[in-house]
Amino acid sequence: MANVGGEVTSQSGDDAVRRPHAIERPHHATAESTRVGIVLAGGKGTRLLPTTAAVSKHLLPVYDKPMLHYALSTLLLAGLRDLVIVVHPRDRAAVRRLYGDGSRLGISIALVEQARANGIADGFLAAMAERPGRSSVMILGDNFFFGHGLQAQLAEALADEAGGTILTCRVKDPRSYGVLTLDARGNPLRIDEKPARPDSDLAITGLYVLDASAAEKGAVLQPSERGELEVTDLLRAYLAESRLRALPLGRGTFWTDMGTEARLLQAANFVQSIQARQGWRICCPEEIAFRKGFIDAAALRRLARRSPNPYGRYLAEVADGRPVDS
Ligand code: DAU
Repeated sequence: MANVGGEVTSQSGDDAVRRPHAIERPHHATAESTRVGIVLAGGKGTRLLPTTAAVSKHLLPVYDKPMLHYALSTLLLAGLRDLVIVVHPRDRAAVRRLYGDGSRLGISIALVEQARANGIADGFLAAMAERPGRSSVMILGDNFFFGHGLQAQLAEALADEAGGTILTCRVKDPRSYGVLTLDARGNPLRIDEKPARPDSDLAITGLYVLDASAAEKGAVLQPSERGELEVTDLLRAYLAESRLRALPLGRGTFWTDMGTEARLLQAANFVQSIQARQGWRICCPEEIAFRKGFIDAAALRRLARRSPNPYGRYLAEVADGRPVDS
């Protein structure tokens, strides 16, 4: 697939046609990254019981697609093609059914099991054992990001090869998140995990851009009082070296976790509102893989045929160069 003077051409079979004005890549397309992308989809989903007694939180529908599609899409938007998904052993087969080995999206997906929910940093270490020595971008499987300029921000977050970068988001009530306090110059000063009385409203989102030293830093972490290896302790190790960078998401970006029934519903309602109004679907990994050039139109049409419904028809339209981005 090539983008020649505003026209998209494809070399393969019935797609060997030229379509004027078809969109090949979104604005601010990020370069392909050598980092490994990690999606954390383990954990117990305790907060969503009884819904999660038989099904992983990460496979629950968020309006028209499974929760995992949203985190996966964010990594694809960041230009990552080598992915590791950390799953509870119970969910391995289901996640495999959902994505295969990733090749149909033009990416590679390895699954790593985390049998016990020993913490986000523990899940990270399990993934790094699969891809030793690599720098990474880790996203929590219940996180949702959407907004104008997000791709540019992801590119900025990934630009720095050394150190760690987090994205922060102002929220009305930060008590259920990691919270970042800045010093007078606006540099990261302190991180608190779920503080009862936060002295900042900057929540730390579940997207972490980490250099190759993260695995060594993680290896010496001690379990917290609740018995978990905490991601905040990993970030504190970067903070202690003054190598933690925090990028604020602007108010034009919507971020939420979907770990409670209220926030799951809010995210689903958000997706429904935007999609019904605009006609674009939010966080379709198949569409993003196509627009990034990971797959061609023929492959996207094959994916479209897997869903004989409006979702599949949308993918087929995207393969045909519609809707057109103005
Ligand atoms: O959403 C952002 C917040 O995520 C951050 O602000 C917090 O600093 C961070 O600790 C985390 O807080 P949560 O309370 O939301 O974490 P939770 O235990 O719900 O886990 C988040 C995701 O990570 C969830 O999708 C499951 C996955 N996970 C979690 C644990 C504890 C794993 O894969 N393995 C685990 O052991």
